[in-house]
Amino acid sequence: MKIGIVGLGYVGLPLAVAFAEAGNEVVGLEVNSRTVQGLNAGHSHIEDIDDAKLAAVGERLRATANQAELASCEAIVICVPTPLTGSREPDLTYLLDSATALSGVLQPEQLLVLESTTYPGTTRERLLPILEESGLRAGTDFHLAFSPERIDPGRTDYTVRTTPKLVGGLTPACTERARALYELICEQVIVLSSPEAAELSKLLENIFRSVNIALVNELAQLCDRLGIDVWEVIDAAATKPFGFMRFDPGPGMGGHCLPVDPFYLAFKAREHDFYPEFIELAGKVNQTQPAFCVERIQRALNEAEKPLKGSKVLLLGVSYKAGVGDIRESPGLKIAHRLANLGAEVSYHDPHVAELPELGLASVDLQQSLSAADAVAIVTAHPELDYERIAAAAALLIDFRGVTRGIDAANLVRL
Ligand SMILES: NC(=O)c1ccc[n+]([C@@H]2O[C@H](COP(=O)([O-])OP(=O)(O)OC[C@H]3O[C@@H](n4cnc5c(N)ncnc54)[C@H](O)[C@@H]3O)[C@@H](O)[C@H]2O)c1
Repeated sequence: MKIGIVGLGYVGLPLAVAFAEAGNEVVGLEVNSRTVQGLNAGHSHIEDIDDAKLAAVGERLRATANQAELASCEAIVICVPTPLTGSREPDLTYLLDSATALSGVLQPEQLLVLESTTYPGTTRERLLPILEESGLRAGTDFHLAFSPERIDPGRTDYTVRTTPKLVGGLTPACTERARALYELICEQVIVLSSPEAAELSKLLENIFRSVNIALVNELAQLCDRLGIDVWEVIDAAATKPFGFMRFDPGPGMGGHCLPVDPFYLAFKAREHDFYPEFIELAGKVNQTQPAFCVERIQRALNEAEKPLKGSKVLLLGVSYKAGVGDIRESPGLKIAHRLANLGAEVSYHDPHVAELPELGLASVDLQQSLSAADAVAIVTAHPELDYERIAAAAALLIDFRGVTRGIDAANLVRL
C-alpha cells in the first residue's frame, strides 16, 4: 500500500517507520522543513527511532512538505499536535489546518484516520465537515475513522506492533477499512462502534493515569506531614496480588498527554452542563506538586542551616520522564523557574536535554557540579545515572522519584 502520515513527531514517525518496515510505501507530510530535510538525509529527531532504523527502511519512507503528494495514497493517517490554548481549552488549530489542506487533495476511495488525542465528537463534528468541502461524501466516496495512538515514548516492552489498536469508523465500511490498514502493522485490532467511543477510550486511559498519580501525590504530601515513608506504604500495598495497581508519586505530571488530555474531556463535558470533578481535582493536585517539591528543597536546606536564596541547587533530570528528552509540560521546568524566582542558583544535569534556552541554562558536567552544589534534587530518574555514587558525593540529596530506596545516609531526603 501507499500510506501518507501527516505530522512526523513522537507519534507519526514511529508509525511511518512501522508501515515502511511492513513493506509499504510511506510518504510523511511535515510542516517543519528541518525535520523533512533531516529525515530525508537519514537523521531521526525522535529517540525511539534511531538512524539505523531509518536506513533499514530506505526509500520506502520519504518526508515531504508538499501536500499534493498525499493524493496518490490509499490511506492517510493524521498525527498532528492537539495542545491547549493559553486559557487551557482545546487548541485544534493544527488539526483543522491539516484537514483544510487534506480537503484540497482528497481522492475517491481514500481512507482517512485521525490518531491525535482529542475529545469525543472531533472526528464527526470538526474533521468531517472540512473534508466534505472537497465535494466527496464520507462513507461512500471516502472513508473516515478514529484510532487513538497509545505509544509510550521510551518503552520497549510494548511496541506499535504488540500494543492492541482501537478503531472506530464513521460507518461499518469505514471501520472495516481502518481495521485492514492497522492489521498490516498490529497484532491485534479492536473494533469499536463509533469514532466517539474510540476518542473517549483514549481519554479514559490518560485520565485514569492522571487521577491515580494525583492520588499518590496527595498521599506523598500527607505522608510528609505524618512522618511516614510513602514509598514503604506503596511498596507494601503493591504486594496485594489483586485489586491494587501501583502508581508512584513524583514531582508532578508532564509530557504532551497527561497534563493536557483531561482538559479536552472537561471542555466537552461543559458543553453538556456537566462538570467532571475527578478530572479537575486530579489536575489541581498534580499542578501543586512542583511547588510542594520546591518547598521540600527549601526545608531540607533550612535544616542544613542554609537559605534557599543564594544556594546552589543542582537538578538531576529535567525532561518529563526517564529515558527521554521531551520537556513539554515538564515539572522540572516549573521547579527550576520557581527556585530561580526565589533566588537560588539553579543548574541542571540531563543526559537527554542539552539546553534549556528559556531558562538560559545548559546541562552541566555531573562530576564537577555535584560536590559544588548545596542541594541536589532528583527530578527525573534517568537510568544512566548512578544514584548510589551521587548520594555519596552530594552534600544534600533530595529524591523525588524514590530511586534511593535502600540507601541509608544522613544527607538524604526522600519525597
Ligand atoms: N507523544 C506521545 O507520547 C503521544 C502518545 C499518544 C498520543 N499522542 C497524541 O498524538 C498527537 C501528536 O503528538 P506528538 O507527540 O507526535 O506531537 P509532535 O509535536 O511530536 O509531532 C507532531 C508533528 O506534526 C507536525 N505538524 C503540525 N501541523 C502539521 C500540518 N498541518 N501538517 C503536517 N505536519 C504538521 C509538527 O511539525 C510535528 O512534527 C497529539 O494529539 C498527542 O496528544 C501523543
